[in-house]
Amino acid sequence: MPALTAAIANLKGGVGKSTTTVMLADGLAHYYGMNVLVIDLDPQANSSQMLLTERGVQAASDQGKGTHHLLGDFVAGKPAAAAPFIMPNAVTLEELRLAEEHDERLGWISSLPAHPQLRLRELGLEEEWYSKAGTPTTLSDALAAYFRKALTPILPLYDVVLLDCPPHLSPLARAGLALADVFITPTIADSVSTWGTKQFSEWVGKFIAPDLPKRNFVLITRFRDTKYARQVASDLREIYLKDRWFGPTIPESVHVLNAMDRAAPDSYNTFRGKYAGVTSDVRRLAERFTDFMSQRTGATWQKVRD
Ligand SMILES: Nc1ncnc2c1ncn2[C@@H]1O[C@H](COP(=O)(O)OP(=O)(O)OP(=O)(O)O)[C@@H](O)[C@H]1O
Ligand SMILES: [Mg+2]
Repeated sequence: MPALTAAIANLKGGVGKSTTTVMLADGLAHYYGMNVLVIDLDPQANSSQMLLTERGVQAASDQGKGTHHLLGDFVAGKPAAAAPFIMPNAVTLEELRLAEEHDERLGWISSLPAHPQLRLRELGLEEEWYSKAGTPTTLSDALAAYFRKALTPILPLYDVVLLDCPPHLSPLARAGLALADVFITPTIADSVSTWGTKQFSEWVGKFIAPDLPKRNFVLITRFRDTKYARQVASDLREIYLKDRWFGPTIPESVHVLNAMDRAAPDSYNTFRGKYAGVTSDVRRLAERFTDFMSQRTGATWQKVRD
C-alpha cells in the first residue's frame, strides 16, 4: 500500500511544525517500525537540521540531494523523479540502526531535505513564471503535479510521508498541501496561535480540502500548564476545532529542545538518550497518530518496541 502523506502545516510560525515532524518520524519508526520519509518544504531547513545536523544539510546539498535540487529539475524541464534527491538513511537512533547488521532492521527514516537555497530557487521560478502570464495558482498546481509524479513510484516503499511545511503559502507550500492525504496542525494554546490556526483551517477547507475536519489531526504543542492555557486548549477542543482528531498535548520542555539540538552526528545515540524526559509524549503521539492513520486507511500497525 502506498504511504499515507501528511502535511505538517499551520500559517502561524513557531508553533512546533518542524519539531512535531521529527518527533512523529522518530516515534513511528521507533515504536511501530515504520518506514518514514520526511520531506522538508521550508527553506529554513529546520527539520532537516534536526535530522541531519547543519553540516549534514550542507553535505546533502553538495551531493545534489534536497528539495531545492528537485525544484531545479522542474525548472530545467527534466523528468520528475524524487529518489535521486533523498538521503536514504537519516536515522540517528541506535535502536533503528543496529539491527541492520543482522538484516532485521525495523524502522527507517529517510530525508528529502531542504536548504536555504530553496528560497532563492523558488523566487527565481516565481519571477520567470509570472513574467509569462502564469499565476501563483497555476504554479502551485504545476508543482503539485510534478511532485506527485516524482513521488508516486516510491510511495510503496514507505508507510508514511511527512511534509514539513513553511509558515506561509508559497507556491511550494501550496503544492505540499495539495499532495497531502491528511493535515497535522500543531498549535500553541494562546490567542494569536488560535487565530492563525482558524485562518489556516478556513483557507485549507475552502481551497484544498473541503472535508478538512475528517482529515485533520490537531496537536497542542509547547503547553505550559496555566489556567489561561487550559482555557484556550479547552476552547480549541470544544468550540473551534471540535470536529477534529486531537493528539496528546505536548508540554513545553527543555527535553524537547535538547532532542532537536543535533549539533553533531553523535549528539545522542539512543531513543531514550534523545528524548530523555519526554519519551512517553513521543510514544503517545505515535500511538494516537497511528490510530488516526488506521482510521483513514483501514490498515493496522503493531508496536515493535515498548
Ligand atoms: N515542546 C516544546 N518544548 C520546548 N520548546 C519547543 C517545543 N516545541 C518546539 N519548541 C521550540 O520552539 C521553537 C519553534 O519550534 P519549531 O521550529 O518546531 O516550530 P515551527 O512551527 O516549525 O516554526 P516555523 O514556523 O519557523 O517553521 C523551536 O526553538 C523549538 O525548539
Ligand atoms: Mg518549521
